[in-house]
Amino acid sequence: MSVVEVIQSIDQNYVRSRIPRVAIVGTGLVGSTTAYALLLSKTPAEIVLINRDKRRADGHVQDLRDAEVFSHTTRVVAGHFDDCCSADVIIITVGVSQSGQRSRLESLNETAAILKNLVLKVARCNPHGILLIASNPVDVLTYAAWKWSGLPPNRVIGSGTSLDTSRFRRRLAEHYGVASDNVHAYVIGEHGESQVPVTSSARIAGMSLENFCRELGLPHDEDMLRKIANDTRATGLEIIRAKGATYYGIGTALARITGAILRDEHAVLTVSSLVPESMGLGEVSLSLPTIITRDGVARVVSIPLDVSERHALEASAETLKQYIAALKT
Ligand code: LAC
Repeated sequence: MSVVEVIQSIDQNYVRSRIPRVAIVGTGLVGSTTAYALLLSKTPAEIVLINRDKRRADGHVQDLRDAEVFSHTTRVVAGHFDDCCSADVIIITVGVSQSGQRSRLESLNETAAILKNLVLKVARCNPHGILLIASNPVDVLTYAAWKWSGLPPNRVIGSGTSLDTSRFRRRLAEHYGVASDNVHAYVIGEHGESQVPVTSSARIAGMSLENFCRELGLPHDEDMLRKIANDTRATGLEIIRAKGATYYGIGTALARITGAILRDEHAVLTVSSLVPESMGLGEVSLSLPTIITRDGVARVVSIPLDVSERHALEASAETLKQYIAALKT
């Protein structure tokens, strides 16, 4: 290698090490929307789109580069799987599309076979990147990715109930007539049927939902809260049945989690990760409020739950452990 080539290679590595790199594996609707959401959020990063169908990835890149002009801080390129080896965040969105007729858990083994191959490659070649799994059933596949990869639990995250929490907050905000930013409420457990909307510790303006109702002179309507929780749980499959897939919500959630990692935000997000032993839920990955930093999971927060919420969380963990046991790969 000539002196010039050595200098060029150092420069190239320096530039890459200076600009965070996000690899998105799978440029279907979720992957491409995630790239678009990162672009609009002006997250300073190089986004590498990776797809077996190179022509499709190139097409998305060209389309997104037309939007890049308005972002300035984000660059989108088409890449190869090897680019995952130097990525700070590797977002994996591959999987079988959901028909709406099948639950997320039923598509499990088809997607697991695809995912395992990708995860093993990344674990072998990337010494620092954070794996962010979006493929459904996301909690079971987040656990499997941790198991297969041998990576520390903080580096294996799933989108989990980050999307359900935003759906829940939006509905609570509409019901109580406040901005969703001012609703502190979480959905925990499985991203799916056994998810647990937590109302006992929900807060608006620092008040419990009951005290906020009293402050506003509104009835504290438990039936309405149950309806909001049920509507939240049903949203994903309803959208899939209506338009074939969901991607704006999950794409924005993935961009939010990625931004929190790249900006070392210490943001509290309900993402899926290996549950700490101290939670007494067994060896499983599910969503709990989690402090997200540049190292991925900094801390899983043990949120206060009432008796029924704790029982529901235990049931959610049991459901997921049954599917983990059913994993064929
Ligand atoms: C949903 C998909 C991401 O709930 O599972 O929209």
